[in-house]
Amino acid sequence: MPSWFQTITKSRFWQSFFRHGWPDNPLDRSLVMTTNIFFHLHPVKVSRKSLRVTYSFGLGVMSIIVFLILSVTGLLLMFYYTPTIERAYTYILHLQTQVPFGQLLRNLHRWAAHFMVIVVVLHMARVFYTGAYKPPREFNWVIGVLLLLLTFGASFTGYLLPWDQLAFWAITVGTSVAAYAPGAGPTLRTFLLGGAEVGQEALTRFYALHVMLIPMGIALLTSIHIWRVRKDGGLSANQTVDEDHRDGQKHD
Ligand code: HEM
Repeated sequence: MPSWFQTITKSRFWQSFFRHGWPDNPLDRSLVMTTNIFFHLHPVKVSRKSLRVTYSFGLGVMSIIVFLILSVTGLLLMFYYTPTIERAYTYILHLQTQVPFGQLLRNLHRWAAHFMVIVVVLHMARVFYTGAYKPPREFNWVIGVLLLLLTFGASFTGYLLPWDQLAFWAITVGTSVAAYAPGAGPTLRTFLLGGAEVGQEALTRFYALHVMLIPMGIALLTSIHIWRVRKDGGLSANQTVDEDHRDGQKHD
């Protein structure tokens, strides 16, 4: 490394951002991992297997990216949408036909919503097939199940918002099915609809759940989820490294 570059990496300005020297030695290489939020998912040392694309297919990270796309497009949709039964449908039509890029914005939100359900389910399947739900990751599996339920909840509540025939009847059927759940079923239906039928109260509740409570829940639980991945030693493939070390075997 040229001496001028060494001077820069040792300067107070550089250190105020990176808090470590150039990663040409084991200590600074470790610090690169531990001090950078984007690398934070990985422990200081990882197995090659856990870095292979085919191990996780990046499905967890993809879920986060899709959630971010949904948050940004959802926020922009809120500029045009009003959750009232008189105006909701008209505003959706207005958005699609009068607002520049309105149709694209709505479709981006819809496609990303479908994609998120698919990606999260695939991520869960990957976790299952690699046995990553086993100790010490059982707590994170439970957090994952809650994330899955919230993802379904976001899709379900979003479905009513356009207030067209499809939305109205889908939610009428969906909440009627929910009412058959043993014990809490009828209470759940009343809680969701705010009354006996799908009407203004239901639209208000679905809107509050869709734009506030559920996204906040997903953001909070995802933070805990990511923190747990790190605390449990990174991806489950890394465990084989530790086990191999313990058994004195060679690892890949
Ligand atoms: C909004 C939904 C979700 C997000 C954003 C999310 C995000 C992530 C990320 C970024 C990782 C690490 C990298 C990767 O595996 O790709 C991960 C790992 C993990 N996730 Fe999720 N996840 C979600 C849903 C779920 C679900 C539904 C389950 C299971 C019920 C689950 C269980 C796990 C477990 C056990 C790990 C550790 C995997 C390992 O050590 O190999 N997650 N998640």
